[in-house]
Amino acid sequence: MKGVVLAGGLGSRLYPLTKITNKHLLPVFDKPMIYYPIQCLVNAGITDILIVTGGNSAGHFLQLLRNGSDFGLKRLNYAYQEGEGGIADALRLAESFADGEEICVVLGDNIIESNIKRAVDDFRVQCEAGGGGAKILLKEVHDPERFGVATVKDGKVLKIVEKPKAPETNLAVIGIYLYDAAVFDITRTLKPSARGELEITDVNNEYLRRGQLTSDVLNGWWTDAGTFESLYRASTLVREGGANRMDV
Ligand code: DAU
Repeated sequence: MKGVVLAGGLGSRLYPLTKITNKHLLPVFDKPMIYYPIQCLVNAGITDILIVTGGNSAGHFLQLLRNGSDFGLKRLNYAYQEGEGGIADALRLAESFADGEEICVVLGDNIIESNIKRAVDDFRVQCEAGGGGAKILLKEVHDPERFGVATVKDGKVLKIVEKPKAPETNLAVIGIYLYDAAVFDITRTLKPSARGELEITDVNNEYLRRGQLTSDVLNGWWTDAGTFESLYRASTLVREGGANRMDV
């Protein structure tokens, strides 16, 4: 399985912090934000990784990360997203890198306390059994209207709504997704949403429609870091207990 970190977009919710640098280069306690999703993949045993970036300061990713030696990697791969066409638009740039293999996609502003090893191993089994498809991770939150929200019954996802005004549940779809190679065909069928982006929720709902979506609930805390409040919270959570732990 290969890994993809999506670190494009303009980070406009963090202006003026992101006026001259990229959101994912901002500090989260003692490390640049992008370190956390990369470590998350490495901890799951995924070492062939593509970073998709864009916008301001794209060259700084190369200077900062180089070949990934801080993570024990021999090499990193890079792609550049023109504009801010959405998460699923950024994902399209990973097609030739994936080269038919399954991928684990992590949003560059998502940070977790624990690890995703079990979900990754379960998805491998799902694929080897011929099921393929996709797997998403869910987490209970107090502000579901900020996220993709899943309605689940008897452990099965029934629907996912992106940033609902009146959420049916408090189960957020976190920004870590496991996909088989069909994901790239699905991204080709997407239409821009009301906010003008290709939505990852539309990708997940297509897998759901095909009966090929499984889900798991994540252990430990999860946060994004794309708003002032969540960036602050991320630093506090990392400072208090650490991220990407193997013992949670
Ligand atoms: O954090 C989890 C949430 O992320 C999910 O629950 C939502 O379903 C999903 O749509 C997304 O919501 P946001 O609106 O918070 O995503 P945001 O626009 O902040 O983008 C998250 C990351 O995705 C960002 O840090 C980098 C990457 N991205 C985003 C866009 C819009 C790109 O690489 N390219 C892009 O064009």
